[in-house]
Amino acid sequence: MAAAICGYHACKIMLHGQRARGAGEVRGANVTSEPTPLLRVDGVELSFGGVSALKGVSLDVRPGGITALIGPNGAGKTSLFNVVSGFHQPDAGHLIFDGTDFTRLKTPKRAALGIARTFQNISLFPGMTVLDNIKLGAHAHLKTGVIEAGLFWGPARREETELRAEIERNIIDFLEIDHIRKTPVSMLPYGLQKRVELGRALAMRPKLLLLDEPVAGMNREETEDMARFILDLQEEWGVTILLVEHDMSMVMDISDHVVVLNFGEKIAEGAPHEMQRHPAVIEAYLGAEQDVA
Ligand SMILES: Nc1ncnc2c1ncn2[C@@H]1O[C@H](COP(=O)(O)OP(=O)(O)O)[C@@H](O)[C@H]1O
Ligand SMILES: [Mg+2]
Repeated sequence: MAAAICGYHACKIMLHGQRARGAGEVRGANVTSEPTPLLRVDGVELSFGGVSALKGVSLDVRPGGITALIGPNGAGKTSLFNVVSGFHQPDAGHLIFDGTDFTRLKTPKRAALGIARTFQNISLFPGMTVLDNIKLGAHAHLKTGVIEAGLFWGPARREETELRAEIERNIIDFLEIDHIRKTPVSMLPYGLQKRVELGRALAMRPKLLLLDEPVAGMNREETEDMARFILDLQEEWGVTILLVEHDMSMVMDISDHVVVLNFGEKIAEGAPHEMQRHPAVIEAYLGAEQDVA
């Protein structure tokens, strides 16, 4: 298939072509109305002692899209992810997923809703194999529980076997990591470890995937591979993506909406090419001595 061999720039063009031909996006009377956001962040505040990390941040993540969250270091991007995934409880504001307020929901229940994430710094069990790390993500959805499943007994054993087969078939194939499925994660190069972490998040069968700097520290080839996986997830798996990334060429190429944070506040949002030229965005990055282009 062409998508399997092209770089992500070419893929995006091809995928846009598919979108243009698709029949699903415009339906009758809803032509001009906005779809219900999959995630709504409404007036979220978060502080650590005297440091105000998020100051009344509101944003919507459109279903089916790739939304990028950008901003200089310390802007509050990871803090926002931590609030959405349940690591931090906001001091004020609301979180709404597909119309349901989940502000007070515990982290595992958020996973069951369909929210999964990867971390800015890889968070895998280095001594465990690729397959075992990925399987850990799937336990969020097991009815019988991790301990019972570990005993390989009765319904738990059946569920475990089915789960394993599904993971091997779908995720390992998709991420092209069949050859390393029995390899301990610690023996893999960085780019592949990031791919395994994506696999673990996918095992949670997310509707919304939060990716915190998925290509940070990667070389060009690894970056292009990851960008292609993200595009395929959106287009073929129907996963909605919220992406924090400093690689601006990737943000410009694969996202369809960009939200800009600076010092814990949303300073702009819009189409990627608009944000690249937006005076407040350029000023924020210049102030931080980082480059937006
Ligand atoms: N656990 C924490 N304890 C104290 N301060 C924190 C913590 N996490 C983040 N911060 C502070 O919150 C602000 C936003 O940080 P962060 O969300 O990591 O920014 P970004 O991901 O945009 O670089 C920074 O000033 C940071 O130092
Ligand atoms: Mg961060």
